[in-house]
Amino acid sequence: MASLEQKREAFRKYLESAGAIDCLSKALIRLYQEEQKPEDACKFIRQVLCESCPTDEQVAESMSELDEARKRILELEREIRGLRLNVRRTASEENLLLEDGFEKLARDESCTALLKKYLTREVLDELKSLKTQSYKSTLLDCIQSGLQNCDSNVGVYAADPEAYLVFAALMDPLIEEYHGGFGKEAKQPELSWGEPEELENPDPEGLYVVSTRVRCARSLENFPFHPRMQEQQYEDICARVKAALEDLPEDLTGELHLLEALDESRKCELEADHFLFQQDDRFAKAAQADRFYPAGRAVFLNGAKSFIVWVNEEDHLRIISMQKGSDIAQVYKRLIAGAESIGKHITFQRDERLGFLNFCPTNIGTGMRASMHVRLPKLQADRPRLESAAAEYRLQIRGENGENSDSCSDVVNVSNKRRIGLTEFEAVKEMVDGVKALIELEKQLSEVVESEPAAEGAEPPAEE
Ligand code: ADP
Ligand code: ARG
Repeated sequence: MASLEQKREAFRKYLESAGAIDCLSKALIRLYQEEQKPEDACKFIRQVLCESCPTDEQVAESMSELDEARKRILELEREIRGLRLNVRRTASEENLLLEDGFEKLARDESCTALLKKYLTREVLDELKSLKTQSYKSTLLDCIQSGLQNCDSNVGVYAADPEAYLVFAALMDPLIEEYHGGFGKEAKQPELSWGEPEELENPDPEGLYVVSTRVRCARSLENFPFHPRMQEQQYEDICARVKAALEDLPEDLTGELHLLEALDESRKCELEADHFLFQQDDRFAKAAQADRFYPAGRAVFLNGAKSFIVWVNEEDHLRIISMQKGSDIAQVYKRLIAGAESIGKHITFQRDERLGFLNFCPTNIGTGMRASMHVRLPKLQADRPRLESAAAEYRLQIRGENGENSDSCSDVVNVSNKRRIGLTEFEAVKEMVDGVKALIELEKQLSEVVESEPAAEGAEPPAEE
């Protein structure tokens, strides 16, 4: 092995043969010859070694040019995104897609979507060439999700608020059926929160209810819904909501997190804990709810994670109050305080007849969904019984992880199904009364099982 001395010698020879020693010597000689020795000797040597190196001023100038160029690239990328996402189909292209989609729904015998039921030949012919005045939204903008997903329950989203009126021939009967009665003549009552303390806790001993949540969907006036939204509009909504959230009552204060600033693992964690929306809803995606994603998408969480606001998810705003246990009065009071506080700064989109307007016709009127996660093992094992009880009490049953999730545990998500044609208070009460009834049913089923005689061949119970 070479000794240290040998290594040094080899390196010296290398420097000499490569001209490095000459080069460094020249720079040192130049420094020696300078009458006014420079303050920064290293910089002097650097400049001698690299005669064509730019001066500090030139470097600063180049850096600022680079900054400008980077900004311009971002602007151009944004412009391209806008142009791409705003390419409109010609009338004949739209017509072709509508006709193909209509045929596809007709052929699919397993399709039970309300879209299929109410998009009759006559309705299609009546609506196919109409556009909203405000945003030029078409029928296809509103039904693209349902045409792509034959397994939709509803299949329709309003592309802008006016779509509820222009496409009423489709929207009205569908709204009436989904919400269990809201005929053409019906009118949504004025907002009425009622008295939260009048809501009875359905499980005071805490034996069945795991958690309680009440949310309301809200849209900002003078903005369209996803299919016609622009990148700047997502950002404007987010900025306006951020400002409104700065004025929340003290116990609700917290932090707004832009989705692009949250890393994947944090997002998954928040989603698993039920605080963040699902990120892969194919129905919403097909309705273009992912336009310009993640522009303006955000989630606000207070310190206790009991007051949450989703920004630009399915709706402009989802205002949420939730906590463990079944204290519905407390959860509802918090929701009212939060929604009222935000409403002081933002005018929500509201229609005389339909109440609060939002993207999906299932979320208009009150826009309220009150829910409880309830442990119901017996009913869960007897789905037809659970479903029929749910229908009787106008409830919707979802899986523990939200809409479209499987209910593989004993815990089911029980909520009010109708959100229009009743007051806010009535919507919450409908859920509470329903949960009470389901708990009673669960108790009865448990008692039946306990009192059933032991199966043949089983050990007789020990005598007391
Ligand atoms: P929504 O339409 O009201 O936003 P989703 O069914 O999409 O409701 O659910 C959104 C998230 O909220 C999911 O993670 C779901 O598990 C959670 N969630 C809904 N209700 C409750 C509840 N009562 N307790 C805890 N989490 C809930
Ligand atoms: N478009 C979906 C369907 O028709 C969802 C409808 C209701 N849910 C909602 N998140 N808007 O099945």
